[in-house]
Order: sequence, then structure tokens, then C-alpha cells
Amino acid sequence: MHSFARHRHTTAVKASAKETKGLPINGGWRYDLMEWFLDLFLFRSQLRDLRQRTADLAHIEPGEQVLDVGCGTGTLALAVARRVGRTGRVAGIDPGIEQIARARLKADRRNLPIEFQIGVIEQLPFPDQTFDVVFSTLMMHHLPASLKRQGLAEIARVLKPEGRLVIADFKRKQERQGQSARFHAGGSNMQDLAALIKDTGFSHVETEEAQFHRFSAFPGAGFVSARKS
Ligand SMILES: C[S@@+](CC[C@H](N)C(=O)[O-])C[C@H]1O[C@@H](n2cnc3c(N)ncnc32)[C@H](O)[C@@H]1O
Repeated sequence: MHSFARHRHTTAVKASAKETKGLPINGGWRYDLMEWFLDLFLFRSQLRDLRQRTADLAHIEPGEQVLDVGCGTGTLALAVARRVGRTGRVAGIDPGIEQIARARLKADRRNLPIEFQIGVIEQLPFPDQTFDVVFSTLMMHHLPASLKRQGLAEIARVLKPEGRLVIADFKRKQERQGQSARFHAGGSNMQDLAALIKDTGFSHVETEEAQFHRFSAFPGAGFVSARKS
């Protein structure tokens, strides 16, 4: 999925997007098309299942305020908007300019008031203690180790006390089984990620493995959920 990785910027977002140590992705509708093809024919819907499980683990309630960090083209944020309902709030940030444009278009077409904006995990554009839930799917492996710690501290800052965090990511290549090991170079060691999350001041840290489907080429993935202490 990294074939759309680019480093394009507009003047307005130059500072934050340009300075990120992460790996922004672009492609917009082309990214969505590629992902649809991969998920249908190679991953056997495991990408869709991963997003669904992320939302389930977050236990999102109507009226809650939710943030998707590294939201890409907004697919999960759109699904979550239905869970929080009209009294809730969903925001999504990503440094990929084309991804945010695509996410906004998808939300407009569905008449969903989601706040998609260009941004980076290094400096989340929200006040302290804004959100009940922050989640992130398949984004952590785009960050170098030093930025993971900084980004988790930023997430803790924008979460309300007792706020929930759910992170889903590909597992590291060495930890995968069979043909899935051939796909996708990046990935996270879930135990290391859980330890880092604990270290950043979160409690109730739990990990979970994504189900392994024998006939899917989906790279193995895992989840870490936690609560802001
Ligand atoms: C594989 S995509 C996943 C997108 C989306 N979460 C999903 O599940 O489809 C990883 C995303 O992380 C974003 N990203 C890279 N560096 C980032 C940073 N420093 N802060 C926030 N997001 C970042 C990329 O632009 C990309 O959209």
C-alpha cells in the first residue's frame, strides 16, 4: 500500500506536513480503488474486518467525541460517524492532502459532518482533553520509534481522563505466517507497542491478534487498546 507514498504539500499545510518524520500517503480515489481490489481478491475482507474490530474495541457510544489519527481516505471515520450519531463528533487527521480531499468528498456525499483536516501526529490540532476515543489503523508502522513515543504523548494530551485508545497495525514481517509474510514491508511488534503505550501513561493496556484466515494474503495484524490514566 505504499506505492502512493508521496511528499506533496500545499502552502497552507507546508510546515506540519513537510516536517513530519512519518510517511505520508496520497492517491485519493486511486488508493481506495487499489485497497478495494486487494481486500476483495487477496485479503478476503480482512481489512474491512480490522476496521470493524477497531471500532468494536473502542466501545463507541452515541454522543461521544472521536478522533482518527492517520485517517487516510476516511473509511473508518465514516463508519464510526454512524455510531456516535448526530450528537457526537468525529474528526480525522492525515498529512496526505489527496487522502483528506477524498475523505471530505466521501463524507459530503453521505451528508456526514466529519471534520477531516490535514495534520500530523507530531502536533494534533486540538485542545487538551477533547476526545473520548482516539483510534488509529495501520498508521503506527509509518512512524520512526522516536515519533511513536511523541505521537502517543500527543494522543494522551487530547484524550479526556479515562479516554480510550485503540491502535491496529500490521505485525512485523518476521512474526507473520505463510504467504502473508511476503506482503508489506512495515509492521509493529505488538508487545513493544503495548509497552510503549503503558510507558506513555496509559493503563488497562490489552493486546489482541487479528484472526488468521488460511486463504487470505492479508499481512498479520494486531490491536492494542488502553485507557488514559
Ligand atoms: C496505510 S495508511 C492507513 C490509513 C487509514 N488509517 C486506513 O486504515 O485506511 C497510513 C496513513 O498514515 C498516514 N501518516 C503518515 N505519517 C503520519 C503522521 N506523521 N501523522 C499522521 N498520519 C500519518 C499516511 O498519510 C497514511 O494515510
